Amino acid sequence: MTARILDGRAVGREVLAEVAERVRALRARGVAPRLAVVLVGDDPASAVYVRNKGRRAAEVGIDTVDLRLPAETTEADLLGRIGELAGDPSVHGILVQLPLPAHVDPQRVLRAIPPEKDVDGFHPQNMGQLVLGPPALVPCTPAGCMILLDRTGIDLAGKRAVVVGRSNIVGKPMAHLLLAADATVTIAHSRTRDLPSLVREADVVVAAVGRPGLVKGAWIREGAVVVDVGINRVDGKLVGDVEFAAAAERAAWITPVPGGVGPMTIACLMRNVAAAAEAAV
Ligand code: GUN
Repeated sequence: MTARILDGRAVGREVLAEVAERVRALRARGVAPRLAVVLVGDDPASAVYVRNKGRRAAEVGIDTVDLRLPAETTEADLLGRIGELAGDPSVHGILVQLPLPAHVDPQRVLRAIPPEKDVDGFHPQNMGQLVLGPPALVPCTPAGCMILLDRTGIDLAGKRAVVVGRSNIVGKPMAHLLLAADATVTIAHSRTRDLPSLVREADVVVAAVGRPGLVKGAWIREGAVVVDVGINRVDGKLVGDVEFAAAAERAAWITPVPGGVGPMTIACLMRNVAAAAEAAV
């Protein structure tokens, strides 16, 4: 089998066009959707992500407020700034770019974002609603993976899904979204025994670890669906967590890196901002 491509660029564009329409409707009612992006320190990768978020927002008509703070910013200062954004009715979404400097407790910071402005979906209330259903604001990367699968016409009911990685940002919420879509879900992680045999059994594999080539092509079941969330730079080139060429010989569907999950993440962030603004009207 040679896999077909799960095209995140195409589906991401579709989602962004829908968001742009919702933003136009909001503006027609006198609401200008606004996203505040908070970046602490000068991590170069974070700076790139933040710049891309600003560009996409502008494309769909969402205003952004950029808050750049020095790496030495204290937790108390940061909490104060978030409190100001929380109380500002013109701001509909607040995103604090992670990772934060080591002296800041990310959980305390994420809890300071009002759940209704938490467009990353990381607040415990939003995470809790994701587990209990119905979900409110859902983390952007897993939400993007689900939309990509859904719009490609992939039915997950009864499928055996293996999520490799248990991060709060991707692995855990992804597992719950797959469960809500009636998949039978296994979460694998660094202490998992015999990852190859788990992956060999999987109809759907989601790789979200951040280790290039961790998932070998030979492990992929014939006809499986492979979603690669990894974005790793190797010799100046972006690669995922899955051995793409070898996996594509066996899979039915696979996401490329770049051009798979990445564009979906940012599209879903814009979708969350539109939803937050609509809920605030
Ligand atoms: N850092 C890496 N991924 C993310 C994300 O989805 N949201 C935020 N805020 N920071 C990140």
